[in-house]
Amino acid sequence: MAASSSSLPLPLLLLLLQLTLLLSSPVQSADEEENLLQGINKYRTSLNLSALSENKNAHCFAGELADQFKSQPCTNTTGADTVPGTETQFSNYPDLLSKCNLDIMNTRDGVIMPACVPNLVPDIVLSNFTESQYSQSLNDTKYTGAGIGSEDNWIIVVLTTNTPPGSFAPGTSAAVAPKIVFTSHLLSVLLGVFLVLLS
Ligand SMILES: *[C@@H]1O[C@H](CO)[C@@H](O)[C@H](O)[C@H]1NC(C)=O
Ligand SMILES: *[C@@H]1O[C@H](CO)[C@@H](O)[C@H](O)[C@H]1NC(C)=O
Ligand SMILES: *[C@@H]1O[C@H](CO)[C@@H](O)[C@H](O)[C@H]1NC(C)=O
Ligand SMILES: *[C@@H]1O[C@H](CO)[C@@H](O)[C@H](O)[C@H]1NC(C)=O
Repeated sequence: MAASSSSLPLPLLLLLLQLTLLLSSPVQSADEEENLLQGINKYRTSLNLSALSENKNAHCFAGELADQFKSQPCTNTTGADTVPGTETQFSNYPDLLSKCNLDIMNTRDGVIMPACVPNLVPDIVLSNFTESQYSQSLNDTKYTGAGIGSEDNWIIVVLTTNTPPGSFAPGTSAAVAPKIVFTSHLLSVLLGVFLVLLS
């Protein structure tokens, strides 16, 4: 009996606990994002507007933004209560775009709407978008897609259009090229070394 109880190793239990946490937390925030998109689309339907479709690239970017916001406290100078024009600007905006392989030329017409709600209570989250200055953007036929990201108390909605400047289409070949160039450069260097060794 004693032997069998000591054969349940503590590290294994800790590992299981970690796995559970790892698996459960993203699911939870994905639920909140999904709820918000559904709520926004109900709002759009009530205004006779088409539903916003999910934009994967905007979703990626919203996640990167949420990561930047998460350490900031909820105050009246951040989020949906922001006085227009005083929004937080990130100096690493280009880096965030490139993390999602996005080209700034394809994001100019998009809209970024951050909100901070303790514990992301669904009803309050939704009203932070539909009953704030953001409602103007949500009530706009120009926007056809959305990506939502969340971290801690922050949830970010990024709206996209179906025209190139707001499409959030992945970067053109120019943005992707450096990787390929690097690889072929490396290959030719290796090939060069090989040829030198052969001669
Ligand atoms: C919504 O659109 C329908 C059909 O186009 C129209 O009959 C109705 O009046 C519109 N409702 C509102 C609230 O605009
Ligand atoms: C934020 O709140 C503080 C204290 O409650 C107030 O003095 C300040 O004017 C508020 N700022 C804005 C932008 O509403
Ligand atoms: C937005 O969320 C905050 C909580 O951070 C809440 O105090 C505020 O009433 C909400 N605003 C709207 C318009 O729902
Ligand atoms: C939505 O936009 C239309 C057209 O600009 C406007 O007539 C309507 O009052 C707006 N509704 C809301 C709830 O903002």
